[in-house]
Amino acid sequence: MALVREPDVLEPELTSVLQGRWSPRAFDATHELDRRTLHLLLEAARWAPSAGNSQPWSFIVGLRGDATFDRFFEHLSRGNKSWAGNASALLVAVHQNASGPDHELPFDGYAAYDLGQAAAHLSVQAHAVGLHAHQFAGFDHEATQAEFSVPAHWTVKTGIAVGLLGDPALLDERTREKELRPRTRRAIGEFAFGGDWGEQPVELG
Ligand SMILES: Cc1cc2nc3c(=O)[nH]c(=O)nc-3n(C[C@H](O)[C@H](O)[C@H](O)COP(=O)(O)O)c2cc1C
Repeated sequence: MALVREPDVLEPELTSVLQGRWSPRAFDATHELDRRTLHLLLEAARWAPSAGNSQPWSFIVGLRGDATFDRFFEHLSRGNKSWAGNASALLVAVHQNASGPDHELPFDGYAAYDLGQAAAHLSVQAHAVGLHAHQFAGFDHEATQAEFSVPAHWTVKTGIAVGLLGDPALLDERTREKELRPRTRRAIGEFAFGGDWGEQPVELG
């Protein structure tokens, strides 16, 4: 039977795919990501909005067991190595930082924002098909850029682990403690204002 975690989000009207999304560390080491599902995940990223439809994102995709997965895994931080190896896929998420011969970048300053939206769409799509995604920044960015010969007008930004939820009992103690910790968020009133910055929380129903 598939493992699930009770949603921490208690707003029942929030769309269920967002209620259930979270970033686990326990992944099922026996699960394999099939190419059709991989296609769906990248299709979700593909249809994300972007400044002027510039689509300034790229992904390097490794599936567990292949050389790309292992080459990226080598550059992860020690903490992320403790869990990410059981994911079914590891993606390097890359955004453009200038125009180049392969792709124009008509807008300055929005590419990281656009990549983030594409990654969010991919994560939500993963959850919608019963998988989970866990984005991470803990890896050697320069080494990863060099490892995959990413040109200088592209910036390696984050990693995304995708897989089937696994058993937290199999994690080391420190990682398991993080896995089972309740998820928390700032109150909306701290970040949404109805007027002057920080003065007046937006009124909500
Ligand atoms: C840009 C970015 C960098 C992150 N880096 C790491 C990381 O290096 N290691 C890790 O375990 N989680 C990492 N995370 C996951 C966050 O810690 C996680 O999304 C956050 O705690 C909220 O938890 P939730 O996704 O389960 O709601 C990162 C997430 C993002 C978006």
